[in-house]
Amino acid sequence: MLYLRNLIYHPTACPTAILKSIDLELAPQQLGLIIGPSGSGKSTLLEILSGLAEPTSGGLFWREQELIPEQLQQLAGLVFQFPERHFCGSSILEELRLGHPELGSDRVKHALSEVGLEHLSLSTAPHALSGGQQRRLALAVQLIRQPNLLLLDEPTAGLDWSMRRQVINLLAKLKQDWTLLVVTHDAGDLLAIADRCWTLNHGELKSVDSKTLEVKVKEPLPTV
Ligand SMILES: Nc1ncnc2c1ncn2[C@@H]1O[C@H](COP(=O)(O)OP(=O)(O)O)[C@@H](O)[C@H]1O
Ligand SMILES: [Mg+2]
Repeated sequence: MLYLRNLIYHPTACPTAILKSIDLELAPQQLGLIIGPSGSGKSTLLEILSGLAEPTSGGLFWREQELIPEQLQQLAGLVFQFPERHFCGSSILEELRLGHPELGSDRVKHALSEVGLEHLSLSTAPHALSGGQQRRLALAVQLIRQPNLLLLDEPTAGLDWSMRRQVINLLAKLKQDWTLLVVTHDAGDLLAIADRCWTLNHGELKSVDSKTLEVKVKEPLPTV
């Protein structure tokens, strides 16, 4: 279980806090979805949850234990927005083993099969993959470390309809084994697989019922 308690992020150079008194709870094997417009603080929150930035005040807890950034780096796996832009291996194998040369072929195969890419040759260049496959490889790069919490920044951004479907089906499958927190400015069909939902506006997080959001999204636009 992940808990955030009264978490505030207010860099001294900023006139107002970027994250304001965030409270959040996420149970194991659930998918939490945070929906907020551009600039609302979504990526900043994921940076804090993955131990890349330190909150100004408040606490992060995993089960009963309060965590410091170094522990969060171990616990969480962050998939950046447009993760394919950060690929630097020349092959799938190299990409998966970056920073973990000790990982054996069993772990490599397992990570690829979790994201449905086990049929590809390990020597394939990451840039030769389709957009949906690249997103799945970026997930495998995190899963191979077996983090307790998987964080995804705009996982469906820039994908066409069929590739969005691939990613959403994969996230629905992954939540059977992992705890996922997804942030997006465009919830769309991610709502259907979310167990918990929040909106984030100007750094303020509010819990919402995903069912009410779903209805709103599906309502046709009024015709004039
Ligand atoms: N280190 C920082 N110092 C000052 N401002 C920042 C810093 N990091 C992010 N911001 C600002 O915080 C706000 C939230 O940014 P971000 O988390 O990237 O939002 P989102 O991912 O929802 O688009 C933005 O207004 C951004 O300019
Ligand atoms: Mg962002």
